[in-house]
Amino acid sequence: MACGSLAQMSSWLAPTAFVDRTVVLIGGGSGVGLCVARAVVEAGGQVVLGGRTQQTLADAAADLGDGARWRTVDTSDADSVSAFFGDIDIVHGVFTTAATYVTGPMRDLGEAEAATPFESKFWGQYRVVKAALPRLADDASIVLMSGAASVRPPGSAPAYIAANAAVEGLARGLAVELSPVRVNAVAPGTIDGNLWRTRDPDVRRAAFGQYVSAATIGRLITEDEVAQSVVHLLLNGAMTGSVVYPDGGYTFR
Ligand SMILES: NC(=O)c1ccc[n+]([C@@H]2O[C@H](COP(=O)([O-])OP(=O)(O)OC[C@H]3O[C@@H](n4cnc5c(N)ncnc54)[C@H](OP(=O)(O)O)[C@@H]3O)[C@@H](O)[C@H]2O)c1
Repeated sequence: MACGSLAQMSSWLAPTAFVDRTVVLIGGGSGVGLCVARAVVEAGGQVVLGGRTQQTLADAAADLGDGARWRTVDTSDADSVSAFFGDIDIVHGVFTTAATYVTGPMRDLGEAEAATPFESKFWGQYRVVKAALPRLADDASIVLMSGAASVRPPGSAPAYIAANAAVEGLARGLAVELSPVRVNAVAPGTIDGNLWRTRDPDVRRAAFGQYVSAATIGRLITEDEVAQSVVHLLLNGAMTGSVVYPDGGYTFR
């Protein structure tokens, strides 16, 4: 499902909410990151999109218009992440959806495969925040990407579940260390969007069916709904050290 426009968010997002603000979105060439980018640009801000695929980023930035620029980056490589921030003067927001990992039962995965959620999702985001530090405005807001699996395991993927819980712990730790910069995490439920479109149809059908019956709203989450939670965390000066769960009642906390 494509991202909605500001018109759909306008009941709560002021059209000037991001004026003079620069938001870095690594993974912003697609999915939730792209939906956040669209909201930021339509509300007057600038975005810097990152990802590994030049064409994806160029297409996304062209679609977003003047408020968007892009640069390739691989969050598995600290030098690449540091170079990414090299020509950005000041950063008011950071959100990293970039992650490439394998999930599966402990019984089936070797240690290297099992470590991929930590290596890519946890350490990838850690590297991004560390490289952003010298550029952060005092009133900057960092949003880390977790997943509702952190608190309600969907099946047998223990290392992925633990990596998400670690991301949430990192948000709390950084909220203290980086104050007055605010740091939060967003932990979405299963999204009917770009990520799942690339997965095996049988696996997707089973996961979607399980999620729909477990969520109290009886449906999947949209990329726009997650983007709205991220925008809230970027803008609301009272939010820090929190985890927000746009999950349709899946974790029911
Ligand atoms: N979709 C869901 O149901 C769901 C639910 C809960 C949590 N999440 C979390 O959301 C994140 C994925 O976001 P999404 O759903 O919006 O999926 P997505 O559209 O696949 O976004 C991921 C983006 O990250 C980029 N990327 C991947 N690895 C990278 C790397 N090493 N360095 C730089 N960029 C990289 C990808 O582009 P390139 O391949 O071109 O680099 C892609 O644009 C993951 O952390 C996932 O665990 C997703």
